[in-house]
Amino acid sequence: MNEPIKVMTIFGTRPEAIKMAPIILKMKQEPDRFDPITVVTGQHREMLQQVLHVFNIHPDCNLNIMRKNQTLSEITTTVINKLDPILDQHRPDIILVHGDTTSTLSAAISAFYHKIPLGHVEAGLRTWNKYSPYPEEMNRQLTDTLADVYFAPTPLSRHNLLIEHHSDKHIYVTGNTAIDALKKTVDPNYHHAVLDKIDDKHRIILLTMHRRENQGVPMLRTFKAIKQELAKHSDTEVIYPVHLSPAVQKAAHQEFDSVDRVHLIPPLDVVDFHNICAKSYFIMTDSGGVQEEAPSLGKPVLVLRNQTERPEGVKAGTLKLVGTDPKRVKAGMEMLLDDPKAYHKMSTAKNPYGDGKAANRILSAIYKEINGDK
Ligand code: UD1
Ligand code: UDP
Repeated sequence: MNEPIKVMTIFGTRPEAIKMAPIILKMKQEPDRFDPITVVTGQHREMLQQVLHVFNIHPDCNLNIMRKNQTLSEITTTVINKLDPILDQHRPDIILVHGDTTSTLSAAISAFYHKIPLGHVEAGLRTWNKYSPYPEEMNRQLTDTLADVYFAPTPLSRHNLLIEHHSDKHIYVTGNTAIDALKKTVDPNYHHAVLDKIDDKHRIILLTMHRRENQGVPMLRTFKAIKQELAKHSDTEVIYPVHLSPAVQKAAHQEFDSVDRVHLIPPLDVVDFHNICAKSYFIMTDSGGVQEEAPSLGKPVLVLRNQTERPEGVKAGTLKLVGTDPKRVKAGMEMLLDDPKAYHKMSTAKNPYGDGKAANRILSAIYKEINGDK
């Protein structure tokens, strides 16, 4: 009988936590095979706590690094410095990171400095554009350069890794763990106070927007375009859970505070977000994770970015890239609001991001990588 494998997960933001949670929870159910150690960088504070609370995850260690308006250099250096003694103390068999945040890259560098094998969950997503999304595209490319084992959510992400000459032997196509998380959260009888403020006959548009490259002019012009479409369509209301980033808070309140049918609310916990998503007519977002989840709930997504690392969804017809050019934003909204055929086509397209069993596949792969086929 092999010793349980010591798997250290390191993550720091809301989306990483949501997508790592299914893996951590599964490991806890198999103590004979896995000894999970959970380390959070605290790149996010309240938004991370929301997720940990929902999934009842108690980190073994919290680096607690968040500062208001933190710079990328501050995040990177603080995480690397603070991880040193923790990696020395625990010496895990493998470190798992997720996605493309600065916590992800910093933890990957630390794993390399300590010569600990690195597994990358959600590996191989690419736009091939250094500055879009920024800094995420380079965060994930550099993390894949440092990784030893790759959990690619789709065949396309595997293909991207092969183009970069990563070893096929260590690439596993698993589906995205976001879909695993979704299976635990959606409840047909769900209710939330914000829904009481909305006329039953109105169509809900769920909006999220936070990316660094959209902050400033692109965000403001997108908000203006949305306001114009709301004025044209009196049966629509927007719910916007606003990211806690000060730059995003300022822009959202400046443009929407005086608009009746826009409901600005604090970030929702993940159960609330998934359920409100399920009750919406469509989604507008620059988020990565939301592009994967909304199609699973049959919700069309207008992507407020010029490029996406999730082209599978565009190809399947569940996502439409509209960027932040007001003309394209408005045309996208009008298509979904005024053309029932186009709406039907987008809302019934098949979700290409998995079947909700990604965590199982990831854990089987880790077991095989560390113990061979024993
Ligand atoms: C980060 C990730 C981004 C990911 C996003 C998910 C980087 C560089 N960016 O962006 O890839 O898409 O998280 O949401 O890793 N704040 C709080 N409380 C919180 C969280 C944030 O007050 O719980 C505020 C802080 O002032 C912080 C600011 O938001 O300085 C921005 O947070 P930061 O983690 O630097 O970047 P995000 O835009 O959240
Ligand atoms: N999400 C949430 N509450 C919100 C908005 C989003 O729980 O108010 C969830 C959403 O379901 C998805 C994840 O957060 O799983 C996406 O995170 P975010 O958009 O912050 O980051 P990205 O995916 O762009 O890196």
